[in-house]
Amino acid sequence: MTDYFTQIVQKLVQAGIENPRLEARILLAHILHCEPDEIFTGINISPENMQRTEVLLQQRLAHKPLDKIIGKRAFYKAEFKVNEQVLSPRPDTEILVEAALEYLQNKAKPHILDLGTGSGCIIETLLQEIPDAKAIAVDISAAALQVAKENAARLKVSERLRFINADWFSTDFVQQINATFDMVVSNPPYIPTAQIADLDVEVKDYDPLFALDGGTSGFDSYRRIADIAPQLLKESGYILLEAGINQVEAIRNIFIQSGLKHVKTVRDLAGIERCVIMQKELHK
Ligand SMILES: C[S@@+](CC[C@H](N)C(=O)[O-])C[C@H]1O[C@@H](n2cnc3c(N)ncnc32)[C@H](O)[C@@H]1O
Repeated sequence: MTDYFTQIVQKLVQAGIENPRLEARILLAHILHCEPDEIFTGINISPENMQRTEVLLQQRLAHKPLDKIIGKRAFYKAEFKVNEQVLSPRPDTEILVEAALEYLQNKAKPHILDLGTGSGCIIETLLQEIPDAKAIAVDISAAALQVAKENAARLKVSERLRFINADWFSTDFVQQINATFDMVVSNPPYIPTAQIADLDVEVKDYDPLFALDGGTSGFDSYRRIADIAPQLLKESGYILLEAGINQVEAIRNIFIQSGLKHVKTVRDLAGIERCVIMQKELHK
């Protein structure tokens, strides 16, 4: 008779899930409180644990994302709590984190602003990596900020991170923030509204709409952030923006129109231009 691990893999294959063996391992490791590499073909699972696995497996077969089933997702060097109130952190966003670390490496006590923090994955990773940094994390979603706060507490960065529940389209947004920064980081919503219906079920049904919808063109949030960036940045401060596919040129132009200088655009591992780095020039 086929062993239980293989049965799970087969069901995942039939449902068209990519990486079925890896997902079966992660699912069983979650149930058995062990590491995925401790799960192997033929592993002995008790009837109670099979029952518990079955409940989660049915959710996965209905295309609920695995991280939202098990409630956590690996990002950079840590695990972040996730739920349906936050965008699941994406590996592509690690590119922005790496670039931010590079540009902050010689800066003592940097002050950083994260616009649209979601799970907190970007800013909390930066705080973990830079022990003398301080930051503000902003999100329009109070429910997302709750998740980010829990992650900050677990990662022991809460004391250096202030959370502000605000909408960057508010006319008094800059006054609400009331500070200037060595660096602003942002992965804003960038999907054009009309394209949201065509996204994978795993994204459109389980990531919050606020995290996805970039307005008619996809650039609404970039335009607003470009308008306020000069007031939020210190002189020579950087702003790092994640971009969707084929969006970088428009984003560079939007920020150049706000008086910022293009410094660099970084590609992701697939070779796609993913992170735009702009700088507020020194006042001459
Ligand atoms: C694409 S998600 C990025 C989340 C996280 N930084 C990451 O990279 O995984 C965008 C985030 O921006 C927030 N957001 C969208 N519009 C906003 C607005 N007008 N003001 C403040 N936050 C906003 C969303 O709630 C969401 O958490």
